[in-house]
Amino acid sequence: MPTPEQLLENNANWAEKREQDKSGFFKHLSTQQKPKYMWIGCSDSRVPANEIIGLEPGEVFVHRNIANQVHHTDFNCLSGVQYAVDVLNVDHIIVTGHYGCGGVNAAVESTHYGVVDNWIRGIRDNYITHQEELSGLSAQKLSDRMSELNVIKQVENLSHSRIVQKAWEEGKKLTIHGWVYRLETGLIHNLDVSRNASDDIEPVYRATPVHE
Ligand code: CO
Repeated sequence: MPTPEQLLENNANWAEKREQDKSGFFKHLSTQQKPKYMWIGCSDSRVPANEIIGLEPGEVFVHRNIANQVHHTDFNCLSGVQYAVDVLNVDHIIVTGHYGCGGVNAAVESTHYGVVDNWIRGIRDNYITHQEELSGLSAQKLSDRMSELNVIKQVENLSHSRIVQKAWEEGKKLTIHGWVYRLETGLIHNLDVSRNASDDIEPVYRATPVHE
């Protein structure tokens, strides 16, 4: 394991190489931030956003937390989403979970880990909601499917948020995606649950009330 001093050395080397490859790289980057993507992912050290989708500094706005949650009471995540949508005008928000997620696995076990139990409580509720579909699955398949269901739920939460609803009502081009990354292969599985309009959203979640 490198020491913190070595990390600083790594940084100096990286910055030097970047400048060599492209002179003025940092100066140019420091004057503007125009990413087209926002990434909401797990804090897991094995799922580094930029690296696995091949994006450079400045190209993806990132929010990460344990088990890639989008909670309606989490001002940290919501502030990020609002800034990305209203100020940076991103075109895509990608919720990326991963198979073998410790947060997801912890939620379906009866083990208690401390304060994080509160954080992953929604995953536990989601597990109960889908218990019928999940019953009879092997431990591995259950874990994999729960990682997928967790992402689908967060895509839903995000789509139900006033920030996203308002953006869609204003005609903004914004697509929400749900992906799951596999640690064993380095590959992302697209769950095909993208949303880009309020059309299929229940009226109670809409920013402007719908009278039917
Ligand atoms: Co995780």
